[in-house]
Amino acid sequence: MRLLGVVLCSLAVIVGWVAFLWRDTFDPASLSGARVLITGASTGIGEQMAYHYARFGAQIVLTARREAVLQKVAEKCLELGAKKALVFPADMASPSEPEKFVRFALEQLGGLDYVVLNHIGWTPFEMWSGDVAHVRWLMEVNFLSYVAITSAALPALTESKGGIIVLSSLTGRIATPFTASYSATKFALEGFFGSLRHELAMQEKDVSVTVCILGLIDTESALNKTRDVVDMKAAPVSDTALAIVKAGATRTMELFYPWTIQLLCLIRDWFPEQRNGIIRGFYNFPSPSA
Ligand SMILES: NC(=O)c1ccc[n+]([C@@H]2O[C@H](COP(=O)([O-])OP(=O)(O)OC[C@H]3O[C@@H](n4cnc5c(N)ncnc54)[C@H](OP(=O)(O)O)[C@@H]3O)[C@@H](O)[C@H]2O)c1
Ligand SMILES: *[C@@H]1O[C@H](CO)[C@@H](O)[C@H](O)[C@H]1NC(C)=O
Repeated sequence: MRLLGVVLCSLAVIVGWVAFLWRDTFDPASLSGARVLITGASTGIGEQMAYHYARFGAQIVLTARREAVLQKVAEKCLELGAKKALVFPADMASPSEPEKFVRFALEQLGGLDYVVLNHIGWTPFEMWSGDVAHVRWLMEVNFLSYVAITSAALPALTESKGGIIVLSSLTGRIATPFTASYSATKFALEGFFGSLRHELAMQEKDVSVTVCILGLIDTESALNKTRDVVDMKAAPVSDTALAIVKAGATRTMELFYPWTIQLLCLIRDWFPEQRNGIIRGFYNFPSPSA
């Protein structure tokens, strides 16, 4: 009886602690009028984040390459309640675009509260083929443009005590097959923004850095690539986008979505063989000897 009491009490404490850690501290009003930049906002997770920010009444500047598609997203943002929704079409492979984008946003909004770094260049989902030029290009699009946007936006974010939200991936923490170039760009982001977060704290600058470690999300581009090859349930894009917006607003350091991704990250360094076995277990790939 006594033992049962101890066990039940311990369980209650653990459940209470987990509930405390997972409690929703998000205040929707904190995003009303917030000045937000979103990259890769024409489709996928970026588009859905734009709609969530719009519902909370934010002022948004959207970028991606396709102007007409961006315009449609901006119109829908206004219908959903955005206080402003402007577009800046740009190709982030061009080294001069990131700074122009931030300058445009600062002129239009007069300051910045959140910078959401989300775009990625197209990359094949296949074995590394030796294409070095592709890696160089992808580094520019997926990594260097993030650095350049951050550099241009930091003074404004420091003033507003704002936040940077960076879209990483499971493959930014644990390498996966068929993603060598993409994975490299995400590891680069993790290193850069992890280091920057330290330095902001050391300088007592109150700018939050939220890194989002995502599993498979059901955007069209991700499903197109992984269908028939990866056996993993994809999380819904709108829920994912909302979780990211909330994580940024609550200044969360790391978001794992879906949460099961965190389990894989936990075993990463302790059980490397098992980790790699689990990762390759998700792939349907015919053995060459079969
Ligand atoms: N979906 C997943 O399963 C998954 C998993 C882990 C992490 N993530 C991360 O989540 C983020 C969003 O993924 P997603 O699946 O939503 O991607 P997506 O649907 O492919 O959207 C990519 C966005 O980037 C823009 N873009 C492409 N090339 C560009 C360029 N050269 N310059 C500027 N913009 C460019 C695209 O618009 P335009 O074509 O109009 O330029 C589009 O808006 C990425 O950082 C990705 O790594 C996704
Ligand atoms: C996905 O594949 C379909 C069919 O091949 C194609 O029409 C569509 O453009 C692809 N979408 C993306 C985002 O790659």
